[in-house]
Amino acid sequence: MILLAIETSCDETAAAVVRDGRDILSSVISSQIAIHAAYGGVVPEIASRKHLESLAPVVNQALRDAGVGMEALEGVAVTRGPGLSGALLVGFSAAKAIAAARKIPFVGVHHIEGHLFATFLEQEVPFPFLALVVSGGHTHLYHVEGFGNYTTLGRTIDDAAGEAYDKSAKIMGMPYPGGALIDRMARNGNPDTIRFPRPLLHDGTLNFSFSGLKTAVLQQVAKSPVAIPSQAADDLCASFQEAVCHVLAAKTEAAIRQTGATRLVVAGGVACNSGLRSRMASLCRRLGVELSIPPPSLCGDNAAMLAVPGDYYLSHGVVSPQSLDVTATWNMDSIKETLL
Ligand code: KG4
Ligand code: ZN
Repeated sequence: MILLAIETSCDETAAAVVRDGRDILSSVISSQIAIHAAYGGVVPEIASRKHLESLAPVVNQALRDAGVGMEALEGVAVTRGPGLSGALLVGFSAAKAIAAARKIPFVGVHHIEGHLFATFLEQEVPFPFLALVVSGGHTHLYHVEGFGNYTTLGRTIDDAAGEAYDKSAKIMGMPYPGGALIDRMARNGNPDTIRFPRPLLHDGTLNFSFSGLKTAVLQQVAKSPVAIPSQAADDLCASFQEAVCHVLAAKTEAAIRQTGATRLVVAGGVACNSGLRSRMASLCRRLGVELSIPPPSLCGDNAAMLAVPGDYYLSHGVVSPQSLDVTATWNMDSIKETLL
């Protein structure tokens, strides 16, 4: 099946053409980051307006790159939620319109389901597996038994890991979103310089908390301001990254031990992080667990990732009705009741 996939949940307008939920024929991502950076974060109204401007050119580019016309499309997969309602609506309405005009089915997919299965675009992972999803809005551990069949084992009780990166970067005086920049600076720093807190490390749950870490960065910067670039800034970044990765790895290890999982998928924008990637690799080597992380190009928001669950659903007769609406919040655990 040749699917068109569309993603507009936050600040990336993305479209992709994917065959059989595995072969990426094209993947186009138009980022609004430069526009939102001036405001220090994503401005929902601006995001919707930019999606409206960019979507048609992005979809046309994806079709051109794939070398196919609209008539070749057999279905549409689109992010239905969670995300910014106005932003979601742009992609969702376009997907519905294309499906109706072409008389092909469409399916609304959970954004995090896309992230979870991005790694399948490189190599399939047999079910069941444990998944750590770390993005700007999510830090969740899921037990994944199949498409649509997810159980949350743990989650952040406040900020997401990506949010902690971006907020801490802002405190340090870096432009939005600072996650990737902290990662780059951390590589030249000493992670033992500052002992940042490891929230909820020994609370016996699989939950995370990152808001205290951000406060600790604020206090540290107030006490000893750092210039960027400088060795002190690199050390600060390395110490921060060490605290985040330590907690993510420790909770993931606890989840592996608790569930007896033999396979781990790490996904979402923060899965680009070099410290997290190497830490997860050594954790999995030590525990004899098979690790799958998408290449960095597929970790961040993109449309191709949606085609993996999208293709599964459409080829199993799960089709969304034209009356379906977007949803700003959507619990992954309820998908098996609502979608399947
Ligand atoms: O998955 P994603 O592209 O969008 C959401 O669904 O949220 O994730 C974006 C998040 C941002 O917070 C960004 O700063 C973070 O991923 N990020 C990173 C790195 N690259 C992106 N965080 C840490 N290290 C990185 N290398
Ligand atoms: Zn995302």
